[in-house]
Amino acid sequence: MYVRSVHYQNWRNLAEASAAFSPGINVLWGMNAQGKSNILEGIYYFARGRSFRGARERELVRFGAEFAHAGLSFRRTGFEEDTRLDAVLPLAGKKRLTKNGAPLSSTAEMLGLFRAVLFTPGNLSVVTGGPAERRALLDIALSQISGDYLACLRRYAKLLAERNALIRRASEGDSPSREEWTVYAEGMAEYGARIAGYRREYVSLLSAAVGRYFAGMTGGREVPGLEYRSHALSDGVPALLTDPSQAADGSALCQKLMENREREIAAGTTLWGTHKDDVILTLNGTDARTFASQGQQRSLVLSMKLGEAEIARQIGGEYPVILLDDVFSELDEERRRYILDALSGEEQGEGGEARQIIITSCEPDVIPGARAEHVTFRRVSSGQVTEN
Ligand SMILES: Nc1ncnc2c1ncn2[C@@H]1O[C@H](COP(=O)(O)OP(=O)(O)OP(=O)(O)O)[C@@H](O)[C@H]1O
Ligand SMILES: [Mg+2]
Repeated sequence: MYVRSVHYQNWRNLAEASAAFSPGINVLWGMNAQGKSNILEGIYYFARGRSFRGARERELVRFGAEFAHAGLSFRRTGFEEDTRLDAVLPLAGKKRLTKNGAPLSSTAEMLGLFRAVLFTPGNLSVVTGGPAERRALLDIALSQISGDYLACLRRYAKLLAERNALIRRASEGDSPSREEWTVYAEGMAEYGARIAGYRREYVSLLSAAVGRYFAGMTGGREVPGLEYRSHALSDGVPALLTDPSQAADGSALCQKLMENREREIAAGTTLWGTHKDDVILTLNGTDARTFASQGQQRSLVLSMKLGEAEIARQIGGEYPVILLDDVFSELDEERRRYILDALSGEEQGEGGEARQIIITSCEPDVIPGARAEHVTFRRVSSGQVTEN
């Protein structure tokens, strides 16, 4: 799918702005603080139902204005008509979401209509931050391609919260029955095994994609590794993305939870399960978090995001829009060139499928030489978008 146009009113510093985009590569360029990231934030809002900067909705409203409005027209692969989504966020009162003018009842109803993958410099925490950052990346990506995954995630989170309450009760002197412990151990093991099954398969797909990007970017000098590490789950967990009807064996986690209750009561929380899992990221065999340079970290996260788009295409049948905020700073010429070649080479996928990339940059000349002829440039200045 690809974005045809966007329109903003009082969306952060965008008092009144519109922009049209083409399939292929689009560059939004301009000086600092002109509104480039705000434009991407608006586009991504329709994919995630919230700001990627974690902003509250009222913070999106332009200072002094009563409401913020963003409108997005996009075209799905194989469709001849655009879909139009609008979001009106008032300072006071409820937000209004519409699809082709008709009200949507909730954000949940909007999710899944428009799909996008976003890279922002904030995502570098996927490498530099703790396991929760890496699990979040998997959760966001998998929730978009599997309803079953999202359902398991929700059930697991609920059981975990209830079990933690049980543990707190036990540490305050109460003694929950064996049945109670069993119910939670079995439930968490059942959903936890499914979550781990999905994540493990996803990480192996991602690892293959990241490996390809790195081979191209560095001429094979840097070899990345991604490995899903699950604390307690048995090895036989199946590839659920491929076949969700398979059963996942959670007996190892169940046993762990039943046997280590005393330690958990002492700790006051559940110590084992998929909420503790991690993705180990390496470059040439050494831990990326500790040893990777800034450019390497950026390359790693960027490759993961581009891989995410490929997997979404593979599983979901359509390329999401790829939004790259300030992606090329810190990447050397060789890496930039390869990424752009890889992205534009796949511009036209199977059956002439349009693939779209929207990049922000401080300079217009991020795109090397001849490549630039096929790029759509938009200049962003003081919250206005102009064609050049
Ligand atoms: N609610 C708001 N009302 C008005 N202006 C806002 C609001 N929120 C943010 N801004 C302003 O929007 C401006 C542009 O922000 P944005 O992040 O889009 O810049 P940018 O073009 O991406 O710059 P950079 O190249 O530095 O990343 C900032 O100066 C910021 O102060
Ligand atoms: Mg920015």
